[in-house]
Amino acid sequence: MPIYESVMQEKPPIVLDIGTAYTKLGFTAEASPRKIMPTEVVLTTTGIRKRLFDYDTTEELHDQLVDFLQTIFFKHLLVSPKERKFVVVENVFGPTVLRETLARVLFLHFDVSSVLFVPVHLIALSTLAVPTAVVVDIGYSETSVMPVYSGVQIMSAFKDQSYGGSAIHAEIRRQLLEAGIKDDLLTESVLEDIKVRTCFVTTFERSQARIKDQAPPTPPPGVDYIVSDHDAVIHVPGTLRETVYEIMFEPSNERDSLPHLILRSILDCTLDMRRALVESVLLVGGGSMVQGLQSRLRDEMQHLLAEDSFYANRFHGQLQFKFFNPIGKQNFTAWLGGALCGATDLIQTRSLAKETYLKSEHVPDWSNLCDNRPTGS
Ligand SMILES: Nc1ncnc2c1ncn2[C@@H]1O[C@H](COP(=O)(O)OP(=O)(O)OP(=O)(O)O)[C@@H](O)[C@H]1O
Ligand SMILES: [Mg+2]
Repeated sequence: MPIYESVMQEKPPIVLDIGTAYTKLGFTAEASPRKIMPTEVVLTTTGIRKRLFDYDTTEELHDQLVDFLQTIFFKHLLVSPKERKFVVVENVFGPTVLRETLARVLFLHFDVSSVLFVPVHLIALSTLAVPTAVVVDIGYSETSVMPVYSGVQIMSAFKDQSYGGSAIHAEIRRQLLEAGIKDDLLTESVLEDIKVRTCFVTTFERSQARIKDQAPPTPPPGVDYIVSDHDAVIHVPGTLRETVYEIMFEPSNERDSLPHLILRSILDCTLDMRRALVESVLLVGGGSMVQGLQSRLRDEMQHLLAEDSFYANRFHGQLQFKFFNPIGKQNFTAWLGGALCGATDLIQTRSLAKETYLKSEHVPDWSNLCDNRPTGS
């Protein structure tokens, strides 16, 4: 029987992208996740709601994962996980304990038939069906940059920094507290709502004018934000709306702002890869959906190439940064890649099967030498 027929006859595999802030869940070969839900768990023992990745011991993480996945299967997807195949989108540099515990829960508690772990950057790029790009994932806890060349991740050029959604929330909170807003109004969900509805990335010219000029440019109009739970109104100043995202662009001696991160990552690749990478940048992750980010990044990086001697001496020829248009929304691009991958025969050939897992109760890892020795050595 041809392999695609056997794939089609089976129950569709489940695709999970468990992010720090949001989990995307659904089935393979579908165009969007069935649900995007906060990565929070209501503990069956105490009824307390907490973030999934707030844990002290591995056992605590295990129990939280059981409760969390139980909600996913029986409340949102309404399917039994038993004997089902899974695709899990993971961070290549994520903690080993997470994938090991997730595998333990899936195989031993839920009795699933196989799990295919796919790396977030590579799988996000697969949605475009192109082999080469610098993939920038702006999530909640961090921003990471991974160049992919001819379908291979350049691990040595991986870069990450702590600015993501949570850092922006902290900056909004700081500015609002300075403006005299009461702390108890500023919950995570209010901060997120203010960020998504009112804030944007300003232009390169205006940011330069703000840094260099004595007289800063006229700020955009402020907005009144209604907090319905508390019957209160927060005035969001125009300056805040325009400046909170500047933490991603702040110049520093370490060259760790977002434009520098991307440029340094490309520089860590060999000379012949650089032009192709400059001309193919892909922004993914919910944080990249903010207005104005792409054009600001392009202008900043183009400016650095021309004006910063560190880069001018290392990049050669006329280079023009180009960005891919993502397919679907950026916050679930990686999930979509997983859903596409799960609909191919990779799920048969590359998955970790239950029988294999049960032999050693260990998930093979690219960074573990024991898993990567040529056979026989
Ligand atoms: N339209 C938008 N504009 C700005 N920010 C947005 C928008 N939509 C989502 N976000 C932000 O994106 C972040 C979530 O992105 P994403 O789902 O990629 O993170 P995650 O996968 O949970 O986190 P991580 O990848 O760090 O584990 C949140 O901080 C959210 O506020
Ligand atoms: Mg993510």
